[in-house]
Amino acid sequence: MNTLEAIFSRKTIRSYTEQSIEREKLETIIRAGNQAAIAGKLEFVVITNRNILDQIQKEAKAFFLRSGVEKLVMLASNPNYEVLHNAPVGIAVVISDTTDPHASKMNAENTGCAVQNMLIAATELGLGSCFAESGSVAFTNPTIKDAIGISNDKTVSAIVTLGYTENTTPAVKRNADNITWCE
Ligand SMILES: Cc1cc2nc3c(=O)[nH]c(=O)nc-3n(C[C@H](O)[C@H](O)[C@H](O)COP(=O)(O)O)c2cc1C
Repeated sequence: MNTLEAIFSRKTIRSYTEQSIEREKLETIIRAGNQAAIAGKLEFVVITNRNILDQIQKEAKAFFLRSGVEKLVMLASNPNYEVLHNAPVGIAVVISDTTDPHASKMNAENTGCAVQNMLIAATELGLGSCFAESGSVAFTNPTIKDAIGISNDKTVSAIVTLGYTENTTPAVKRNADNITWCE
């Protein structure tokens, strides 16, 4: 699969098998994330520990339930909903906490670049993946930061869920009605 094939066949996967992912594949995916256009610094934590992944899911659900936001409360009330889709692996993208709006924007943009590289690499390697931004809310709890070994001045901006999948539906082709050419 070449780069363009990977880009055009990538799709969000929210259902994974329990099959574990080969270490070599995880290392390739993390290198792809780290190789992204990153202006500044990101860190990555590869989480394969089931207990920690479950703690993140539980904490994020509790956050949603406390939020009072109708959509989030509804999601979290569904017993089948898990923010990390019970994936066997989550790669946390770690940023330095900041109140500076420019640094905060750069953090978000860096995260997007790194995540997209990992999603595309995962596609080429035959893995399902999802940009699970909602998993990051779990890290408002310092205990969860502690569980993955990050200090209190850092936070998780996104989690990439990864796993093998039985989902074989092709990626939905986007139409081009939002593209303008100025020639
Ligand atoms: C910034 C961002 C945050 C996202 N957060 C979540 C999330 O928390 N949970 C989830 O299941 N999907 C999440 N997604 C996946 C989107 O829902 C998905 O990319 C979109 O529906 C388009 O589908 P596709 O990826 O299959 O093309 C996120 C995507 C982006 C770009």
